Order: sequence, then structure tokens, then C-alpha cells
Amino acid sequence: MATPVLVCGSMAFDTIAVFEGRFKEHILADRIQSLSVSFLVPSMRKEYGGCSGNIAYNMNLLGGKPVPVATVGEDAGEYLERLDGLGIDTSRVKVVPGTFTAQCFITTDLDDNQITAFHPGAMSFSASNDLSDAKATWGIVAPDAKEGMFAHAERLHKQGIPFIFDLGQAMPLFDGADLERMLGLAQALTVNDYEAGVVEQRTGRSMADIATKLQAVVVTRGAEGATLLTEGKTIQIAPVRATQVVDPTGCGDAQRGGLLYGLTSGWSWEDSCRLGNVMGAIKIASRGPQNHAPSRAEIDAVLHATYGIHLPV
Ligand SMILES: Nc1ncnc2c1ncn2[C@@H]1O[C@H](COP(=O)(O)OP(=O)(O)OP(=O)(O)O)[C@@H](O)[C@H]1O
Ligand SMILES: [Mg+2]
Repeated sequence: MATPVLVCGSMAFDTIAVFEGRFKEHILADRIQSLSVSFLVPSMRKEYGGCSGNIAYNMNLLGGKPVPVATVGEDAGEYLERLDGLGIDTSRVKVVPGTFTAQCFITTDLDDNQITAFHPGAMSFSASNDLSDAKATWGIVAPDAKEGMFAHAERLHKQGIPFIFDLGQAMPLFDGADLERMLGLAQALTVNDYEAGVVEQRTGRSMADIATKLQAVVVTRGAEGATLLTEGKTIQIAPVRATQVVDPTGCGDAQRGGLLYGLTSGWSWEDSCRLGNVMGAIKIASRGPQNHAPSRAEIDAVLHATYGIHLPV
């Protein structure tokens, strides 16, 4: 039986456009003081995104019970309808009047350079989304406005709901003291290997040391899988071979979805990390964070073929 998981984090739209030229041929170094450029972008796509939305999407594929905790703008109707249609509980996604949903506008060129503008919009009000009366067996505090991340962490801690601190794109917002404060409230930390290095530098502590005060630290390593630090041990979680490598966007969130589904199914951290790898490898084979749509049986087949275990019936 799946139990509710509070998935705190951003919900956003991502608009990705491709300029079929090279920025460097149009942004001239000696004219940079009065920059005015316009790029014609014939191909464009709009994706449902944000960490809360992405993690919830992946948990839902597994048959879990994610409860996204997020603030969105007046333009979020289609996103909410989509989540409702998938059977995801949207009762804690709050619409903030007079705002837009967070939006990321990304323009890439043929050299894979990117010019990005991120409008936080309703996300800036995430702290006002009080979850104090919510019931859940686990939570996650994923990238969001910093104030909101702390507010959610404090509330989860006060209610005795264990949660994962998922640093991700929020990394620039957290100095050493902020990281220590979060780690003092959380039961686990998830980072990719680059973020792990930054956390070690900012706190002056190794991942192994940080893990001694937590249930677990999970460091994801892209195509190399993940490293789990728990109960004084360091365990390498072998990767799942991806059928194709198309787009890494949202792999981290897919991994969190699998991890949380495992934990709330009563699995060990090790098996939960295995399921995380399965979800990350499935995700990388399709473009965008929420376009992969494997059936539960298909996920189970990959899990069994790689690790010899099955999803709970
Ligand atoms: N090329 C790959 N092949 C197989 N699995 C992959 C690959 N890339 C990522 N994964 C899976 O997804 C997980 C998360 O990926 P990664 O470590 O790249 O996270 P990330 O850097 O936070 O990603 P992002 O922030 O872009 O979502 C990995 O631990 C792994 O299980
Ligand atoms: Mg990430």
C-alpha cells in the first residue's frame, strides 16, 4: 500500500527554443555595451517541469502517492489538469493570484551554448504554502525559493515527518551555515557528484562525515549510477544501462521519485537507490522531464533484469 509523500519544490514550465546558428557570430565582443540581439528560433517546445512536478510524475508512474507541495500562478490550469488527469493529488498546489507560474526560457545554439532566463513568479511565495496539517510518512524538500525550502523543512521537522534534503539547482543559494541548518533538520541528503563537492567545500565536511548524522547520503553519478553512504558504509549502486541517451534533464528528479517510492514501500536504502537508478535510466531515453511513460510492468522488468528484485505487488 502506497503511503503519501509530501513533495515540496518548484513547479514550472520550461520553454526550450533552438537557434540554428551560433551566438558567437551575433554577439560581438566590441559591441557588448549596447547589446540588442534577436534570435529566430524555428523549433520550440514547452515542457511541464519543476522539481516537485517531476518527482511526483515519476512516483506516480510507480503507483506511489506523491502530494506535490508547490505554489503556481494563474496560468497553471493546464498543468493542474494534467496532474489531476494522472491521478496525482493537487490539493496542496496553491495558486497565487496575480502571478505567473515559474518559467524557464532556454535558447540554445548549435554549439550547445545556452541563454536562459528564469522567472520565479509564484515560486517566490512557496513559504506561504503551509503544510503543517499534512499527514505523510516521508517528504522531500527539493529546489524551490530558499525561504520556502526552510519553511517546509522546519514544518516537516516539527511534525516528525522524515524528509530528504535535495539540494540540486538551489545550490547557489546555500552557504555553509545554511547547509548545516538544513542538514540538522533532514534525515537524508541527495546530491549529484558535482554538488557533493561543493557541499564538502562549503561545510568543510566530507560526505562520509555528513552521513554519520543522517540515515543516508545519496550521491548520483550520471551514467555511473550512484553512491550510497549509510550506517558507516559506502555502497556503490551499479547503473542501469540506458537504451539510449537523449536528454539528461530531469534524471535527478526521476531518481528521487524511485528512491522515495522504495523508501515508502519499506525497502532498504540500497534497494531504493536501485529503483532510483532504474527511473533515471528510463528518463534519459526521452526528451524533457515528463515525457517518458513506461508502464509499471516495464519498470519492473528493468528492475528485475538489472538487480533481480521486483516492485511490490
Ligand atoms: N547516461 C545514463 N545512463 C544510465 N543512467 C543514467 C544516465 N544518466 C543518469 N542516469 C541515472 O539518473 C541518475 C541521476 O542522474 P545525474 O547524476 O546525472 O543527476 P543530476 O546531475 O542531478 O541530473 P539533472 O539535474 O540533470 O536532473 C543517476 O544516478 C543514474 O541512475
Ligand atoms: Mg540535479
